[in-house]
Amino acid sequence: MTAATGCPVHAGFDPLDEAFLRDPHAVMAELPLGETPVFYAPSLDYYVVCRYADIERVFLDPETFSAANAQLPLIALAPEVGQTLLDGGHKPQPSMVSLDPPAHGRLRKPAARAFTPRRVNEMEPRIRATAAELLDAVDASRPFDLIAALAFPLPMRMMFTFMGVPEADWPRLKEWCGSRASLAWGRPTPDEALHHAQQMVRYRRYLRELVAAKADDRGDDFASALLEIHDEDPEALSHEEIASILFSLSFAGHETTNNLIGNCVRRLLEVPERWARLVAEPALIADAVDEILRFDPSVPVWRRVTTRPVTLGGVDLPEGAKLFLWLAAAGRDADVFPEPDAFDPARANARRTLAFGRGIHFCIGSALGRLEATLALEELTRRHPSLRLVDGQEIPFHPNISFRGPQALWVRSGPLLSA
Ligand code: HEM
Repeated sequence: MTAATGCPVHAGFDPLDEAFLRDPHAVMAELPLGETPVFYAPSLDYYVVCRYADIERVFLDPETFSAANAQLPLIALAPEVGQTLLDGGHKPQPSMVSLDPPAHGRLRKPAARAFTPRRVNEMEPRIRATAAELLDAVDASRPFDLIAALAFPLPMRMMFTFMGVPEADWPRLKEWCGSRASLAWGRPTPDEALHHAQQMVRYRRYLRELVAAKADDRGDDFASALLEIHDEDPEALSHEEIASILFSLSFAGHETTNNLIGNCVRRLLEVPERWARLVAEPALIADAVDEILRFDPSVPVWRRVTTRPVTLGGVDLPEGAKLFLWLAAAGRDADVFPEPDAFDPARANARRTLAFGRGIHFCIGSALGRLEATLALEELTRRHPSLRLVDGQEIPFHPNISFRGPQALWVRSGPLLSA
C-alpha cells in the first residue's frame, strides 16, 4: 500500500515497536505533528490522525467514517486463521463498537440502559466495598503489585458479577480477553494468531452457551435482564445479539478500567507532590481521573475507515482509507488544552477529552469507569497516604495499540493507617 498523493509519511512510526510501547509520549514529542496532523504510517498501512478537531469530526460523521474496522485484526491474517474464526461463528463485525447504524442501535439501546448515571451511582457501595476488601487483603508491610491487588480485580469482579458470569469461569474469560487484545490490536506471529483465533472461538461459544443456560435458569444479572427483553419481543433482541452484547461488556468493561486505574496510580506517584495533593484534598480525585484520561488515556487509539473520498487535516483520503485516531495526541492538543504537557488535576476543561470517543459510539461505560477509578483512588489515598513507586522498576505494557496501562506496578507503603 502507498500513501494518498500529497500525504506526509512518517516511515519510522510504529506503535508496536518497543520504544513506542515504553513511552508513546516521547515518540509523539519527536514528531512534527503541528505540520503533519494527518500522516501515513507504512508500518500499519494506516493514516494517523492527531488533531482533536479532526478526530472529533471523524467521530461525529459515521456515514463518512465507518466503525467497521474498530476491532478488525490490525494486520492481515493468514487464510487459515480467518477460516478458524469464521468456522467458529466469529463474524468480521463482531459487536456494537464496530457496527454502523441501524444494526448498531439494536445492541446499543438495551446495553446502554444498564449504565445510566443513576444506575451507575447505585453501584457505588458495592464498588467501594470491593475496593476495600481487596486492599484489606494486601500485606502492606512489603512492596506489592497494585495491578494484581486492585486495578485488575476490581473492574473484573464488578463486570463479570454484573453480567452473571460464574466466578469459576473468570480465569478463562480473562485469558480469552488477552487473546482478543493481541489478535485485534497487536501483531501476533502466525502461530500466535492461530492460537488466539482458537481462543476467540471458545470465547464466543462460551458466551452463547451462557445465554442458553441463563434462558433456563435466570438470575439477578444483566444477561437475565436482556433475556427478559427477548421474552417480551423475540424480534427486538435475539439470543445471538445478547451474546454479542456480553462479548462487548466482557472486554470493554474491565480491561479499559484496569488500565485507567493503573495509569492513574502510576502518573500520580511518579511525582509524589501529585499524590500528596490528592491525599490532602480527596475532593479533587474525580477531576484528577479526568485529567489522567486526557494526559495518558487507557484507550490511546481508536479506528475508523472512510466510506468515500474525503479531505481531512488537509489530506485527500481515498475511500477505504484506514484511520488510526490517536486519542492520546488529541489529549495533548494545545488548541484545546493549554499547556497540554502539564498535569493539572484542576484543569477546567479536562472533561472535553476524547478518551471515551464521541457521537453514536460514545462509551456507554464512561460513568462506571470514572466511578471505579475514583473510588479506587479514594480508598487507596486514605489507606496509604505515603504510597510510593518501587524504584528502578521497568513497567511492562501489553503489545497492542489500543489498550494501554501498566501490566504490573510495584508500590510500597509507609505505616498503614487504620481504615
Ligand atoms: C474507563 C475507561 C474506559 C475507556 C477509556 C473507554 C473508552 C472507550 C472508547 C474510546 C470507545 C469507542 C468510542 C467510539 O467508537 O466512538 C468505547 C466504547 C465502548 N465502551 Fe468504553 N471505555 C472505558 C470503560 C468502559 C466500561 C467500564 C464499559 C462497560 C460498561 C465500556 C463499554 C463500552 C462499550 C459497550 C462501547 C461501545 C459503544 C458503542 O459502540 O456504541 N467502556 N469506550
